[in-house]
Amino acid sequence: MAVVLSITNQKGGVAKTTTTLALAHAFARGSTQKKVLVIDLDSQRNATSILLDSRDITPENSVYALFQTNKTISSTLHATKKENLFVIPSSLHLVEVESQLTGALDGFFRLNDALQTLRQEFDYILLDCPPSLSVITINAMVAADFLLVPLQISKFSIDGIQNIRDAVTTVNRRYNAHLKIAGGVLTLHDTRTTLAQAMIPEVEKILPILKTTIPRSVAVEEAHLMRQDIFDYAPQNKVASAYTKLAEELLSLFAHYPTQQA
Ligand SMILES: Nc1ncnc2c1ncn2[C@@H]1O[C@H](COP(=O)(O)OP(=O)(O)OP(=O)(O)O)[C@@H](O)[C@H]1O
Ligand SMILES: [Mg+2]
Repeated sequence: MAVVLSITNQKGGVAKTTTTLALAHAFARGSTQKKVLVIDLDSQRNATSILLDSRDITPENSVYALFQTNKTISSTLHATKKENLFVIPSSLHLVEVESQLTGALDGFFRLNDALQTLRQEFDYILLDCPPSLSVITINAMVAADFLLVPLQISKFSIDGIQNIRDAVTTVNRRYNAHLKIAGGVLTLHDTRTTLAQAMIPEVEKILPILKTTIPRSVAVEEAHLMRQDIFDYAPQNKVASAYTKLAEELLSLFAHYPTQQA
């Protein structure tokens, strides 16, 4: 049974997609060698554009289909050039889903329903969320076992984290009692800024922060441009070793909990 990890923060540009891609590769490669699925829930399609060659993505073979009541899930699964790594791509049609789900009685459960079969096929399912606390992000929270919150420390990020925390409390009470916060992960982190260091205790009042932090490196943007993962592009880079550590930290955290539908 898969562990479902939602990478969530309504703030834009905090490295959700970068973290999703790096963790997906870390889980699928090396000694871990697990079967991994990335679901791109963002109509910006950033994860999709890195993982898939340009090919025809239609509503029927993309994440759009997962949100429909009559769905064929198998047609949405795409192999990537990496062994063990699959993606359900995003499509521009995803923007229509917002209005389709608003007012639908089961509007928050469509993704969770779709994952019931996918959970049997994969070891890890990673959900790359859009930068909003939309009905799609709530679907991710309802479907997930764990929430990972990439964040940069600032006054505004603290306000945003409180909103995520409140959403998790509501989701726990009403929709998915199993959802756990794996923690916040400091991305684009600069340990030299004393302001950021000083604000960490404020963030920790709202949600736990994982031990591993992800430093900045130009290699991340370069790897994206080359459509490569950070481990292939710059295996010796500090960001590659940080994401390896983050993957290990998460794996030991997952091991402490039974998964949702096990
Ligand atoms: N460790 C890093 N070092 C340097 N640049 C990084 C790092 N992580 C991410 N970036 C860059 O920061 C930008 C935002 O990253 P990313 O797209 O992963 O964020 P996001 O939270 O998914 O954004 P959005 O909210 O738009 O979906 C990208 O240009 C990415 O290449
Ligand atoms: Mg993104």
